[in-house]
Amino acid sequence: MVALLETAENGIVAPRVGLDLAEDILRLKRERNAVILAHNYQVPEIQDVADFVGDSLGLSYQAQKTDAAVIVFCGVHFMAETAKIVNPTKTVLLPDLEAGCSLSESCPPEKLAAFLQQHADKNYYVIAYINCSAGVKALSDVIVTSGNAIKIVEAAPRDRNILFVPDQNLGGWVMEQTGRKMDLWAGNCYVHVEFTRQSIERIHEQYPDAPVVAHPECTFAVRLLADEVCSTEKMIGYCKDSPANAFIIVTESGMLHRLRKEVPGKLFIPGPTDNCACADCRFMKMNTLEKLHAALVNMAPEITMPEEIRRRAEKPILRMLELSR
Ligand code: 13P
Ligand code: SF4
Repeated sequence: MVALLETAENGIVAPRVGLDLAEDILRLKRERNAVILAHNYQVPEIQDVADFVGDSLGLSYQAQKTDAAVIVFCGVHFMAETAKIVNPTKTVLLPDLEAGCSLSESCPPEKLAAFLQQHADKNYYVIAYINCSAGVKALSDVIVTSGNAIKIVEAAPRDRNILFVPDQNLGGWVMEQTGRKMDLWAGNCYVHVEFTRQSIERIHEQYPDAPVVAHPECTFAVRLLADEVCSTEKMIGYCKDSPANAFIIVTESGMLHRLRKEVPGKLFIPGPTDNCACADCRFMKMNTLEKLHAALVNMAPEITMPEEIRRRAEKPILRMLELSR
């Protein structure tokens, strides 16, 4: 049971003292006809009350197919925005509107528009990693996630130059896997680039039999050490199917909760950075159970965007969902 303060600030209705937050979230969810979608990096308490926990691709499909009136998206801003783009008539809530993403920040739409104009002679086919704003999606031909990037890049027109935005590490990994040449935007995930060759080698010396499972947002040097490079969702399947009993998981710390829950009896060791035993995304961790509860009480903060941008951003998302079925 979580004890809560009774004071209300800024007009926000505060929950009663002694209220069981998780139970009340479930009650409110029913009352509001809401669905709670949570990314694998959310804190365990949020994952445990969510209707669906998954990677960006799984969450996009869930957002597209839900018949709930309200989507409470526990993830970062671009994820909730994606849910709104494919669901313009639904209310989409994000418990903390400040939950951004360093990758998304690295590629402002104005900068991409200027780049495309400056390089108009290249006639770029723009492939955007889903970790970008609606404005960037609106300038793109197709969207990818880490779970489908290889398939979608393989299907890209052979007679066009490809510009891949905004993650140079994911883009580099896709080039290695597909052999397709792409020009890469110089963005990265501030969490995944913190893992270093040395930090992963050190932990591997302690657990020499544990396969190293890394997210493709990691640097080339770290990916080279990995037994498997995959999206967060695919990590679950890999660890389930592998005969190994221990794994070094080189991604954000929230992933460990799902792995421990869904693959019981195996040991999951967080990949360390040079400074920390595990890596937290400060944006993902901005959402808390309290803020999720407040979002359902107040029906805010809500994701909104100009219809013109939404319409243009929807096309490459639908193309992705179609191509990766
Ligand atoms: P996944 O789609 O693999 O869950 O990745 C999302 C993300 O933000 C990784 O940092
Ligand atoms: Fe963005 Fe990295 Fe956080 Fe994922 S882990 S939301 S890519 S900053």
